[in-house]
Amino acid sequence: MAPFLLNIFCSQPSWLLLFSFLGLLSLIKITISLLYWTYAFFLRPTKDLKTTYGSWALVTGSTDGIGKAIAFELAQKNLNLVLIGRNQNKLDTVSTEIQEEFKNVQIKKVVIDLSGDMHEGIKSLRKAIEGLDVGVLVNCAGSANERPLFLDKGKMEM
Ligand SMILES: NC(=O)c1ccc[n+]([C@@H]2O[C@H](COP(=O)([O-])OP(=O)(O)OC[C@H]3O[C@@H](n4cnc5c(N)ncnc54)[C@H](OP(=O)(O)O)[C@@H]3O)[C@@H](O)[C@H]2O)c1
Repeated sequence: MAPFLLNIFCSQPSWLLLFSFLGLLSLIKITISLLYWTYAFFLRPTKDLKTTYGSWALVTGSTDGIGKAIAFELAQKNLNLVLIGRNQNKLDTVSTEIQEEFKNVQIKKVVIDLSGDMHEGIKSLRKAIEGLDVGVLVNCAGSANERPLFLDKGKMEM
């Protein structure tokens, strides 16, 4: 069987062999990409943030929107949280919500207006995180326009 196939193979014109070879190469490339994609999305274990980076995560903009959602995600991954916000009441509310769901997570709240006096802000943040193993920083503080605007018409805060 093998010599028969080899005979057929050798009797083909060289241009056909060349194109077949290129086709085989791209098939291998597509297969490898597909296998990697399957591994990355379905099989690869998630990174343990706590042991890889440190046991504390610092989240700005944690009282609303994206930052709040990320704070919950990090708490679910068992990271302790330093939550930054401008409003003590909002910080307390988020902290309570997180604590109700994830009882073992430690939370520190720091009131800082990131568009205000950063000298004071950094000072109080330094004090709050002293001795903590902060390995993750998520910066979500900011605000968006109420509706999409052209770049030169928009007024972005922070
Ligand atoms: N949502 C989207 O689809 C989207 C898409 C792309 C980019 N972004 C950008 O991502 C960022 C967050 O978006 P979001 O939708 O999560 O906004 P959001 O729901 O309005 O939340 C904004 C957060 O930032 C905090 N913040 C605002 N100004 C601050 C300041 N001066 N100092 C400290 N904290 C401050 C707010 O805290 P307090 O008000 O409680 O103090 C709040 O927790 C924005 O910069 C936005 O432009 C959003």
